[in-house]
Amino acid sequence: MSAHGTPIPMQSLAAGPLTGTADVPGDKSISHRSLILGALSIGETRISGLLEGQDVLDTAKAMRAFGAEVTDLGGGNWRVQGVGVGGFAEPDNVIDCGNSGTGVRLIMGAMATSPITATFTGDASLNKRPMARVTDPLALFGAQSVGREGGRLPMTIVGAADPVPVRYVVPVPSAQVKSAVLLAGLNAPGQTVVIEKEATRDHTERMLAGFGATITSEDSDEGRVITLTGQPELTGQTIVVPRDPSSAAFPVCAALIVPGSDVLVPNIGLNPTRAGLFETLRDMGADLTYENPREEGGEPVADLRARFSPDLKGIEVPPERAASMIDEYPILSVVAAYAEGQTVMRGVKELRVKESDRIDAMATGLRANGIEVEEAEDWWIVTGRGHGNVPGGAEVESHLDHRIAMSFLCLGMASNAPVRVDDGGPIATSFPIFEPLMASLGARIERLA
Ligand code: S3P
Repeated sequence: MSAHGTPIPMQSLAAGPLTGTADVPGDKSISHRSLILGALSIGETRISGLLEGQDVLDTAKAMRAFGAEVTDLGGGNWRVQGVGVGGFAEPDNVIDCGNSGTGVRLIMGAMATSPITATFTGDASLNKRPMARVTDPLALFGAQSVGREGGRLPMTIVGAADPVPVRYVVPVPSAQVKSAVLLAGLNAPGQTVVIEKEATRDHTERMLAGFGATITSEDSDEGRVITLTGQPELTGQTIVVPRDPSSAAFPVCAALIVPGSDVLVPNIGLNPTRAGLFETLRDMGADLTYENPREEGGEPVADLRARFSPDLKGIEVPPERAASMIDEYPILSVVAAYAEGQTVMRGVKELRVKESDRIDAMATGLRANGIEVEEAEDWWIVTGRGHGNVPGGAEVESHLDHRIAMSFLCLGMASNAPVRVDDGGPIATSFPIFEPLMASLGARIERLA
């Protein structure tokens, strides 16, 4: 059932119109950060709407191992009794972050400036992913690390007993790297400065300010300069987690490609560092509207209404938009298959080091289902066949990647023959209610024995 367990083969069959309301779960990025910042605070943090996917549950378990008290109060409500900045205890055992790059990289940052040692591991997907992008800047604080060849997990971090603050230009567009450096900077004296050339999701900065840290962001010729004053006293907060735009992407995109559909996806966080997909879909001619736009907990929020869109056109996605929709390229490529013409996606080599090599996984699976895809290291092009003309009929591999599995199940909702996925188990990492939620809208997803 889980990404560690027995594979769960699934298939998706063409469905009638998708209609109704899709209540998607809480935001994964904000859920991880709520637990970690709660653990680094003094006093109690109350979280409602936490995503109870396996990735976040693994982070909750890790925070307990570092000494915080983390309690599931039921119904998405959680309580964290923190240990304060610099208060992490040394874990007794190896920290298993499962499938989660965000979990492991942020936690490594959070412990790297305390005089403790911790060993991290993950599943077969996470243990292939690059960690040097995090351990390189952590070494500047004085933390040491030893891992497998190529900077892979399992890996042990020896935290700096006497950390120094750091000025770091993030070499790849990565919110995880930025966040790891900022979390490490919390327990270093003086000011830690992180510079990112391309703005990535800014939840860590917003939430650090909310927990009481002094942190500023300004745009300069070098990019966005983020300055954090170290050794603050963070205090527990009440957090309402907005719903995840990256999960909303699946019912939204499914509605656009299934004839007759009309789906409402309420309460979606539309932070501009996350909302690139929805702009791109509108550029492609999608009937997608933002209803009831408002602000909640300092984040822009709206209800998304997506209707079947018969005239989708392929476009060139602006590369500068990549960071704001980095997790959404797999499902965008599915919509592109149902559009007329080519959808060109450039500046996306980060897709190759996600839970899977997402360009390769999608290109291989789309081709098997009758869609032409060209690819190179940093770009790919999907040639759409238009509505009614996507063959389907093939089995694809999900490569322990939740978004690959969900994307292909959406492809099968409007293709001429069903699409099979070898293992839908990883969906539980980020969207545990995907199957019942899509079924409630009218989708036909079956588990195969
Ligand atoms: C995330 C950052 C992104 C994203 C991931 C969540 C985060 O990863 O792909 O799903 O919560 O900070 P990168 O930092 O590798 O771009």
